[in-house]
Amino acid sequence: MLVNRLKRWKDRSLLLKFLYEYIYLRYVLNIRYNVKIRDYGKGNSVWIPRNTRCDNLMITFKGNNNIVRIGEGCELKNTNMIYIQDDGNELIISDHVIFDQDVSIVLGEGTRCEIGSNSIFAKGVRIRTCDQHFIYDSQNHRINTSKAIYIGNHVWCGASAIIMKGVSIGNGSVIGMDTMVTKNIPDNCIAVGKPAKVIKNKIYWKEY
Ligand SMILES: CC(C)(COP(=O)(O)OP(=O)(O)OC[C@H]1O[C@@H](n2cnc3c(N)ncnc32)[C@H](O)[C@@H]1OP(=O)(O)O)[C@@H](O)C(=O)NCCC(=O)NCCS
Repeated sequence: MLVNRLKRWKDRSLLLKFLYEYIYLRYVLNIRYNVKIRDYGKGNSVWIPRNTRCDNLMITFKGNNNIVRIGEGCELKNTNMIYIQDDGNELIISDHVIFDQDVSIVLGEGTRCEIGSNSIFAKGVRIRTCDQHFIYDSQNHRINTSKAIYIGNHVWCGASAIIMKGVSIGNGSVIGMDTMVTKNIPDNCIAVGKPAKVIKNKIYWKEY
């Protein structure tokens, strides 16, 4: 009886595997949503609701048990890229987020990146929680550890801005074009330059 139960469970999990890999990843995401998944691991999952639009989004998993969750009503325009290496990373994109074109997000070493709702990412924005290669000091201690990124609600990142590991950007802030953010940025300010410095406080911005 136990053997039969195990067999039934195995069959069911094979069915689930088939449904996930062939129906959900290949048909639903690829054909319906124009999302291409390159999954070189196991237990990775992607959640995209019906009312979110993607156009040629490429998601690569080079590790296991990673999660990509995209919120309601988002618009991920042309040729955006999510690249996840190692295990247990989590990318959470909240509702009504817009990616223009060529936005890239790289996660590694089990880090988390969370993007708040109603945020806009202009063309060529790059976000990364990890450097992808390891650097050590003379005592063999790792010096470039990967760290989580938190981007608040209603944040506008200008074209080609770069958001580096460990950074938190406050609600309602604006990151200038071609700016490199290496330290935390507070709420409702404008930060520009390389590295980013706050130039205006107590601002708010509107899409139109
Ligand atoms: C950040 C931004 C919104 C600021 O606009 P603003 O409030 O009108 O700023 P100002 O033009 O008054 O500039 C203020 C100062 O910041 C500097 N500055 C502005 N933007 C900068 C940037 N991206 N990088 C470096 N310095 C910048 C200016 O040279 C000026 O310096 P100064 O005080 O020494 O003269 C704007 O410059 C910007 O980068 N916009 C992004 C546009 C974009 O990517 N759009 C994509 C559509 S989604």
